[in-house]
Amino acid sequence: GVYEIRKYTLDELKLHKTKNDAWTAINGKIYNITPYLKFHPGGEKELMRTAGKDGTKLFMDIHPWVNYDLMLDKCFVGFLVGIKTALT
Ligand code: HEM
Repeated sequence: GVYEIRKYTLDELKLHKTKNDAWTAINGKIYNITPYLKFHPGGEKELMRTAGKDGTKLFMDIHPWVNYDLMLDKCFVGFLVGIKTALT
C-alpha cells in the first residue's frame, strides 16, 4: 500500500476519518477501510461510524464471527499503540 506498516497512535488514527481516507482499528490492528466501504454488507454508513476510531467494540457487538483480519488483509496499515488488547 501507500502507507508504511508501523505503529500509530490514536491521534494519528483520528486523522483518517473521511470516506476517501478512512481507517479503523480492531483489536489493535489498523485497516484502511476505504476500499471495503462499497462491499460492506451492513452498508457504508454503518462502517463509517468507526472511521478514525477504535471500532473493536462496535464490530464485536455486531458480528464477532466475521473474519475481519483475513478479509482486510490487503488493507492492513499498522498497529494501534497506547491501548489495551487481548495480547497486552
Ligand atoms: C454485516 C464485515 C465493521 C455493521 C457484515 C457482514 C460482514 C461484515 C462480512 C455480513 C455478516 C453476516 O451476514 O454474517 C465487516 C468488516 C468490518 C465491519 C470486515 C471491519 C471494519 C462493521 C462496523 C459496523 C458494522 C464497525 C457498525 C458500526 C454491520 C451490520 C451488518 C454487518 C449492521 C448487518 C447487515 C445485515 O445483515 O443487514 N459486516 N463489518 N460492521 N455489519 Fe459489518
